[in-house]
Amino acid sequence: MELEPTDIRAAAIAAIQAADSVDAIEEIRIKYLGRKGSLTLLLRSLGNIPAEQRAAAGKRANEFKNEIESALEQKKYELTSTAARDLLRAQWIDVTLDCATATQREDLGRLHPISQIQYEIEDIFASMGFEILDGPEVETDYYNFEALNMPRHHPARDMQDTFWTEDGNLLRTHTSAIQIRGMEKVIPPFRIVGPGRVFRYESTDASHENTFYQVEGMMVDRDINVAHLIFVMKQLLKEIFQREAVVRLRPGYFPFVEPGFELDIQCLICNGAGCSVCRQSGWVELLPCGLVHPNVLRMGGIDPKEWSGFAFGLGLNRLVMMKYGINDIRHFLSGDIRFLRQF
Ligand code: PHE
Repeated sequence: MELEPTDIRAAAIAAIQAADSVDAIEEIRIKYLGRKGSLTLLLRSLGNIPAEQRAAAGKRANEFKNEIESALEQKKYELTSTAARDLLRAQWIDVTLDCATATQREDLGRLHPISQIQYEIEDIFASMGFEILDGPEVETDYYNFEALNMPRHHPARDMQDTFWTEDGNLLRTHTSAIQIRGMEKVIPPFRIVGPGRVFRYESTDASHENTFYQVEGMMVDRDINVAHLIFVMKQLLKEIFQREAVVRLRPGYFPFVEPGFELDIQCLICNGAGCSVCRQSGWVELLPCGLVHPNVLRMGGIDPKEWSGFAFGLGLNRLVMMKYGINDIRHFLSGDIRFLRQF
């Protein structure tokens, strides 16, 4: 039996109203408006009816088509917004809830105080045009000693008790090895810093640890002298301690610098008057440094007649201990959460 256009329309509208899902809407669309849908077939059959009725019938069928289309759209919109509302209701969270008062607050963790100071120092040096370099923790004799003007049997090797590996390599005793690797990598003039973990074969106590951290620094240019060294060191200390630092140089011996110094900083606790931190001296030993020995430049392929430089080795553990008043270096690697939570 041929369906009347009005019946098709009525059936479609009723079905749309009863639909309870977007899928059902799509089925209805196909059933009436799809390629073989009843209204589509009806429109296609218009050619068969007498010409004088055709225009009116076509107009009416098209109106029904538009009506069904908009009813479909409308219902689909209603269904999707209800679905979204249901989802919102079911998965509601209170984004204003203060996590500090929530019962199961996650502890996010934090950076180790050594990492914190290392990153801070890297930023300070980067702002002064220094490049940050890296080097391996297991080093060769050449990079750790030989190229630093400490040939085999040099007595200065005794200053650094060394962990040797069975194949004749070693755990680097200082970051100075990065100086040598740096000179192989960059050409003068240059400024580099090399932070890292170093190792000494030591028995531990409150101020000695077998594993600790240094930042090596090296600047090579024409006519570098001790004034450049002092300026850069003062600039660094000013940034770290947020105040002007008074420093002094004492002679210090390291085979890879000449002259070599120990740089002291005026005690920040008593401003030089003398207290228990500086053992009544007014000064705290901070870092060894000096002008790069010509032999070291030569080993790095740099002509000491044309270039000169300074170098320093900053101990990070000592710095953090001074900054926070920590009295035992062994806390750093203890893994004790009560210590670490304080930073
Ligand atoms: N590498 C030396 C040490 O760890 C420190 C140092 C670095 C001294 C650079 C002078 C210049 O003992």
